Amino acid sequence: MHKIATTVVDWRAIREDFPILHEQAHGHPLIYFDSAATSQKPRAVIDALRRYYEHENANVHRGLHTLSSRATEAYEKSRQRVAEYIGAASADEIVFTRGTTESINLVAQAWGGRFIGGGDVILLTEMEHHSNLVPWQLLAERTGAKLRFVPVLDDGTLDLQKLPSLLTSEVKLFAFTYISNSLGTINPVAELCAKAHAIGALTLVDAAQSIGHLPLDVRDLGCDFLAFSGHKMCGPTGIGALYGRAEILDSMPPWHGGGEMIVIVTLEKSAFKKAPHRFEAGTPNIAGAIGLAAAIDYIERIGRPAIFEHDSTLARYAAERLTELPGTRVFGPNEERGALVGFVMDAAHPHDLTTFADQYGLALRGGHHCNQPLMRRFGVSGTTRASFYFYNTTEEIDRMIEILRDAVRFFS
Ligand code: ALA
Repeated sequence: MHKIATTVVDWRAIREDFPILHEQAHGHPLIYFDSAATSQKPRAVIDALRRYYEHENANVHRGLHTLSSRATEAYEKSRQRVAEYIGAASADEIVFTRGTTESINLVAQAWGGRFIGGGDVILLTEMEHHSNLVPWQLLAERTGAKLRFVPVLDDGTLDLQKLPSLLTSEVKLFAFTYISNSLGTINPVAELCAKAHAIGALTLVDAAQSIGHLPLDVRDLGCDFLAFSGHKMCGPTGIGALYGRAEILDSMPPWHGGGEMIVIVTLEKSAFKKAPHRFEAGTPNIAGAIGLAAAIDYIERIGRPAIFEHDSTLARYAAERLTELPGTRVFGPNEERGALVGFVMDAAHPHDLTTFADQYGLALRGGHHCNQPLMRRFGVSGTTRASFYFYNTTEEIDRMIEILRDAVRFFS
């Protein structure tokens, strides 16, 4: 499905770009397997933030002084960089937000508020993160719209046989994740977008778990909206973006009112700028946008095909090795998976397992991963998750297996 890397990357040298990987936890070298929650940051990004604050810091768009021009130029260049990174036709199709959650809420409120009414249907899947579920529940409550869900099969893939009966003419939007943050499932995005368009529905892709891991082009995917966060792709927290096709963004009313998003204001009413500035009221996260552009530069120097091959190989290796442990159930598809593996062990609850692992310097995540309905679907209250990035190694996975083997002995 995805291109195989052709470049040879020195993955060990790359670890040296991440100062935090020298940290210890409880006297052990850190093994960071929680990149699906947030990735670590390379020196290039940390330096870009420092450079901005040391040489460019000012508010954007407002001032006519030198620093304001520098900050504005750097902020808008970052928007252009994001557009290039995801294959958007223009920087005007990129709205800076705080991250995936805010991007989806923006669509639910601004687009949903104008275009969704009683009787309309928003189609989701059973594997959505709460951030691609709760905003639609709120919209449905406000408008009388209905939600429908594509079921998930036992192997962690979507039940696409059910799609024709779900994707009917009442569906106005099909919103789904590219890669499941709990199962690692990689959904067939282009196929799902084509099917939605065939019945006249728009599409929104939650790219939180894919944006830093695989090549992604919004025009190849054919999606109408795409939401992602910078902090899962080596960027700072508090910055992300919403991609929206130009004509759709232009048809949407603002959602937050305030400075910077207007052309003229009287005491009674206001006229608004065009997209994307119409959706960015107030002082934006300028440093965050600049840090995000630095993260993009960094990732592109390595190359996303190589990153995808590296990360999914690690995830498959981990899934395979986990099955060696007694009483362990691994979730998600076997062949192709994103950079993570979720599992449960008879020996201990995910929280206990995660706390045990931390004593050995191993950072895992235990819990429902903001996927409560999906956990219910699989009959568990939560899982333990190991998630990987290009700075992780197979030796670290071998160490995780040793630690989990000790956990089995300890808890039984
Ligand atoms: N959505 C992030 C995760 O899955 C926080 O861990």
